[in-house]
Amino acid sequence: MCGIVAYLGGRRCEPILIEGLKRLEYRGYDSAGLAVLSPKGLRIERAVGRVANLEDKLERLGGLDGALGMAHTRWATHGGVTEANAHPHRDDRSGICLVHNGIIENYAALRTYLEEKGHKFHSETDTEVLAMLVGELYEGDLEHAVQAALREVTGAYAICVICEKEPGVLVCARKGSPLIVGVGSGEYVVASDPSAIVAHTTQAVTLDDYNVVKITREGFRSSTIHDVDVTPKVMQLELDLEQIELGSYSHFMQKEIFEQPKALRNTLRGRVDLDEGKVVLGGLSNFGKDLVRARRVLLTGQGTALHAAMIGRYLMEDVGKVPATAEYASEFRYRNPLIEEGTVVVAVSQSGETADTLAALTEAKDRGALALGVVNVVGSTISRETDAGVYLRVGPEIGVASTKAFTGQVMVLTLISMFLGRRRSLSGERGQMLIEELQKLPDKIERVLEQDRTIRRVTERYIERNNWLFLGRGYNYPVAMEGALKLKEISYIHAEGMPAAEMKHGPIALIDQGMPAVFVANKGPQYEKVMSNIAEVRARGGHVIAVATEGDEHIKTVAQDVLYVPDCPDCLSPILTVVPLQLMAYHAAVLRGHDVDKPRNLAKSVTVE
Ligand code: G6P
Repeated sequence: MCGIVAYLGGRRCEPILIEGLKRLEYRGYDSAGLAVLSPKGLRIERAVGRVANLEDKLERLGGLDGALGMAHTRWATHGGVTEANAHPHRDDRSGICLVHNGIIENYAALRTYLEEKGHKFHSETDTEVLAMLVGELYEGDLEHAVQAALREVTGAYAICVICEKEPGVLVCARKGSPLIVGVGSGEYVVASDPSAIVAHTTQAVTLDDYNVVKITREGFRSSTIHDVDVTPKVMQLELDLEQIELGSYSHFMQKEIFEQPKALRNTLRGRVDLDEGKVVLGGLSNFGKDLVRARRVLLTGQGTALHAAMIGRYLMEDVGKVPATAEYASEFRYRNPLIEEGTVVVAVSQSGETADTLAALTEAKDRGALALGVVNVVGSTISRETDAGVYLRVGPEIGVASTKAFTGQVMVLTLISMFLGRRRSLSGERGQMLIEELQKLPDKIERVLEQDRTIRRVTERYIERNNWLFLGRGYNYPVAMEGALKLKEISYIHAEGMPAAEMKHGPIALIDQGMPAVFVANKGPQYEKVMSNIAEVRARGGHVIAVATEGDEHIKTVAQDVLYVPDCPDCLSPILTVVPLQLMAYHAAVLRGHDVDKPRNLAKSVTVE
């Protein structure tokens, strides 16, 4: 969603801010803007649409001078996509200027209060309210005005604030929305995401909720909104530029699909003990006893992460030997859930910042559950709020459509289910077999990736079709859901994913001549049943594209197109069967001429409920 980058130092900040905004583009946004404190005073420029539009505008204006500034990409929440609603926002009295991620929940009451004091608003945003409030409380010290304003605010925020009257000061703060201060030599780059910082420095200070940081050329001070000093937490950003650059690929999504073998080798590294048939998860080691006593595992997430959680549910019962459920975090939170003793909640999230997932996690913790995180972004809010967890280690995911995080999540959930299972009734022998098979998966994914051209050709055949079905059973029912989601997200083709057996209870009415139906039909316990479902589609004129197991010749007699994946145990098959579906969605979007990495209306990390 929204992105922030700010700079204070000795260099002209405009190009640094624009480059930072470009690195944040992947998060999803609909307008952009920047503010620079130039020798001539505060300059603010904003534009609807891409960062490139803002760049063009700045070029036409001859560029902005100044070594203190901040910039923002906005994903509309309060108020439409207009230049007036884009950030930065300023107040009408004190020369205050502000960028903001998150939502100020009591903005309406604050706006009424400020209007009564005579302030005039120019936008519909909650952010402008915050800028006005800081201005209203400003008495010559920006840091104190920000602290005072934030004491009045409920909601979530990451903010950067500058003031015309204090040209060498940048103040930032956070609550519930990420913000990091990159510390370079004689300069600072503040951003909502490390990808906008690492080109300049890898030394960073993280902010906790309710922390405020005042930065000047001489140094910085961390405090709380109540002005109590805070010892800054310094960390090394573990991200190099190569990881966030495209290299020889055309899109980040493509790069990340092809990175999966390497990413999963990383996920597995050091976490399995083949001799004992056991899994070694440092992040869970202190909770072994609680996990042995676990009576129920509740997996939750949104989007792709929910699909991984659904596979996790099968794994927890089949391999982990513990009753399990999976559900949307957004639904879990508001249904007054009953949490019995011995419930373990597993929050699955690439970003670790998804508001719905975070809210569900908090709810489950408040009701006494042990909270585990399956998260990619190290140090993210969910990873900090959970009692324990296991990181994906798949590297930064930039493509909005999640791919390598999905296979990483399924791999980690497999490891957790084995961790649980071996403490229950999973035999050492089955443990060893699964470890051996897990280790073979990266090479097997390489084999699927080699079929990229075939997959493109098959996709091309159906590219004019506007309605698709994705069907699977058991472990591969969530894969069907994920295949449909991928296609929707980036190619804007309507697709539905469902259990193959459910089709005949309604969706079968949709099938007409030539409608593409993608079946995950690998050799598993339900293979014969899937064959019957395929026959039902064919009988009504539908076209079947099957994802099948290498060596299955029979499938060619029932499906129009077959995409093969190597054989593996059914419980591990989603890690292979999803790959052709990711590639199909990718090619469909490219063939339809869409911007794969910046799909319309979507955000990489959704930080509002
Ligand atoms: C957004 C993204 C999806 C993602 C979901 C959950 O909707 O567009 O790709 O699956 O959020 O994100 P998370 O970071 O929690 O995995």
